[in-house]
Amino acid sequence: MDDIDKLRGDLTQAIAAADTLDALDGVRVSALGKKGAITQAMKGLGAMDPEDRREAGQTINALKSEISDAIEARKADLSTAELDARLMAEKVDVSLPARPETEGSIHPISQVIDEMTAIFCEMGFTVAEGPDIEEDWYNFTALNIPPEHPARQEHDTFYLPGETDGHRKLLRTHTSPVQIHTMQDTKPPIRIIVPGRTYRCDYDATHSPMFHQIEGLVVDETINMGHLKGCLIDFCRTMFDMDDLPVRFRPSYFPFTEPSAEVDIGCTKKDGELRIGAGDDWLEILGSGMVNPRVLENCGIDSTKYQGFAFGMGVERIAMLKYGIPDLRTFFESDLRWLRHYGFKSLEVPGMVGGLSR
Ligand code: DAH
Repeated sequence: MDDIDKLRGDLTQAIAAADTLDALDGVRVSALGKKGAITQAMKGLGAMDPEDRREAGQTINALKSEISDAIEARKADLSTAELDARLMAEKVDVSLPARPETEGSIHPISQVIDEMTAIFCEMGFTVAEGPDIEEDWYNFTALNIPPEHPARQEHDTFYLPGETDGHRKLLRTHTSPVQIHTMQDTKPPIRIIVPGRTYRCDYDATHSPMFHQIEGLVVDETINMGHLKGCLIDFCRTMFDMDDLPVRFRPSYFPFTEPSAEVDIGCTKKDGELRIGAGDDWLEILGSGMVNPRVLENCGIDSTKYQGFAFGMGVERIAMLKYGIPDLRTFFESDLRWLRHYGFKSLEVPGMVGGLSR
């Protein structure tokens, strides 16, 4: 009995003295572990005579549960204290500056396509798309481009390897083939714009083998050259954010339009610097014209009933002019310094509130 009392005293003291969870676990093992004092005392019961064993067994069992309870209680205290200490040590300093996030930006090409799309959608156009890999018929023949036209030459157009029947597909050289797809697939009235990738065998400061165009097509019964002019003058002035921007229509030739006009905007060129706006010089920015009746007929549209106008322009060229980007090749070099400099924050389109509505 004295032994048990001493053991109780020692263990109680050891539990109180354990100041970490590890130390407390040490005490638990020394008392209740396989070779612990209480476990050993239990084992000793087997050697006693039955009378003594009953009494001693009760005492040891009582000690066992008393010590287990004391260990649990001490464990709860130590855990709370440990958590409190951690909470104190790991306090969040709300006055620290936020960690900088690496932020992406909108590529100038995407930005300019969004801006143009917003302007034309405001005028009632919808966006159409077509494939990058085209049949010769859509890219050339249906657009009234004759077989001997230089654009069809191997050195201007990327042709794909021949099919089994010998004919060869190509990478579209302009977005105009989408005019043909649209006129074949839908009945007039048609009012579409077509932003997309285009390809030509060319590479210098103003040409890249892959570039972007926006095509426009309007077909209805009463469409005339006045609509073409009004639409494109409005577009140029909105795009360059200048109400009095001079816009000039210069006679030109495209096989798919008749008559055709190239559109120039006013500018001044001085000391190698280009300024857009009223001045003594002109800068070509797009091609346009009244849809050639042959093209309408190629798509099964009655050219005695319907007329249309079309236009096409290079996105890179407009981006270079509007945002002062000097070399076209840099658009596709993916140089992070360039992207950070010329890129746009999301939703930075002037006059736009989320998405494409202006
Ligand atoms: N497809 C022409 C090109 O790539 C641009 C063009 C000119 C498109 C006149 C048109 C247009 O729709 O009417 O150079």
